[in-house]
Amino acid sequence: MKVLLLGSGGREHALAWKLAQSPRLTRLLCAPGNPGTARVATNVPVRAEVPDEVVALARREAVDLVVVGPEAPLVAGVADALAAAGIPCFGPVAGAALIEGSKAFAKEIMAEAGVPTAAFRTFTDAAEAEAYAVAQGRIVVKADGLAAGKGVIVAHDVEAAREAVRAVAAMGHSGQRMVLEEVLEGEEVSAMALCDGERYAMLPLSQDHKRVGDGDTGPNTGGMGAYAPAPFLDAAQLAQVGEQVIAPTLAVLRRRGLGFRGVLYAGLMLTRSGPKVLEFNARFGDPETQVLMMQLGEDLLPLVDACARGQLEARTLAVAPGASVGVVVAAEGYPEAPRKGQRIDGLDAVPADATVFLAGVEQRADALVTSGGRVLTVCARGEDLARARERAYAAVAAVRFDGMHFRRDIGAKGLKAAS
Ligand code: AMP
Ligand code: GLY
Repeated sequence: MKVLLLGSGGREHALAWKLAQSPRLTRLLCAPGNPGTARVATNVPVRAEVPDEVVALARREAVDLVVVGPEAPLVAGVADALAAAGIPCFGPVAGAALIEGSKAFAKEIMAEAGVPTAAFRTFTDAAEAEAYAVAQGRIVVKADGLAAGKGVIVAHDVEAAREAVRAVAAMGHSGQRMVLEEVLEGEEVSAMALCDGERYAMLPLSQDHKRVGDGDTGPNTGGMGAYAPAPFLDAAQLAQVGEQVIAPTLAVLRRRGLGFRGVLYAGLMLTRSGPKVLEFNARFGDPETQVLMMQLGEDLLPLVDACARGQLEARTLAVAPGASVGVVVAAEGYPEAPRKGQRIDGLDAVPADATVFLAGVEQRADALVTSGGRVLTVCARGEDLARARERAYAAVAAVRFDGMHFRRDIGAKGLKAAS
């Protein structure tokens, strides 16, 4: 099979690495890709979020399948354009990707599907929202539209609630409509399912680390590290998430004519009264995918191909024993203002039992240099979480660039839970 993968982050390097191991793969193209995907695929300088360019490339290269990494191409309608051209695509159409792009739409679907989630109200009038927030005291305020991770404020008292509504209202377009919801407490985990519109298969439960600093301190980021499996749910409980969250959501989307073919990612809060959905994403998580690809114990290509064609066999996926840990190494100044252009050394010295997935990295004539906030993810597998962590951190110690920083506690919560 000829496959075209869209995207250029660490997630895409991990997906390319996994797809490249498939005996069914004959050619792997990546648009636009990065120096990591270039090691296992052929990078093509085509803009992933421009539907016409993607369709033209897929036609020219006669690809059998397109796999979409990030949300931007989905929201831009790449899957719709490919469907119109008769090219199978792993990644939902724009109408279904709205489950990530609009918090209000996501909540509407959850309510209709009876998915457990925080109690909420949607507002279009800032004054009404403020009155409601003040009456509630503790509240979460979410801008409706995509806001690059800055659209969610958790307010713990009346004054903070008032300020949160004003801040979101002042965000302009994405803050015109906002969702106010109950504050939930518990462990946050990522539950992802491969979906073919109707059937699904659960990937192992994973956990991201969103704050920049150890102990979940400092500003939010795209994710500073992940591990899988996260030991907070057993197999039966994960299956229950499938039945109570994934299945009814797919059913509601299908009823609306939006067959969801791709990854449905539920960000869950494990509350005392059970798992509740904080948000949906319409794609693989980053950096969760890096560890999920290391844990997946079977060929990814037939799975995503079956999803894209609406022919997935609903079953339990084969998973490797033990656990995987991925530590994101970030640039100085990330997440506020990452510094670019630092030379990266030491990748040759990374031990063979670790795998490095490149993200914000650019190939210069004589060296790799940093070109983004999250520069790379260092991953390792082990017989258990403790060994996986040791290996990952031993490998991180080999990597060097000016101003690099990373969290030292990736997987620590999982270790604590398991002990
Ligand atoms: P979201 O983009 O909706 O996932 O929100 C970003 C972050 O805000 C989440 O990862 C949570 O840490 C936090 N958050 C969102 N909704 C809630 C909630 N209802 N209660 C507590 N924290 C929340
Ligand atoms: N790691 C969080 C996300 O991909 O949205």
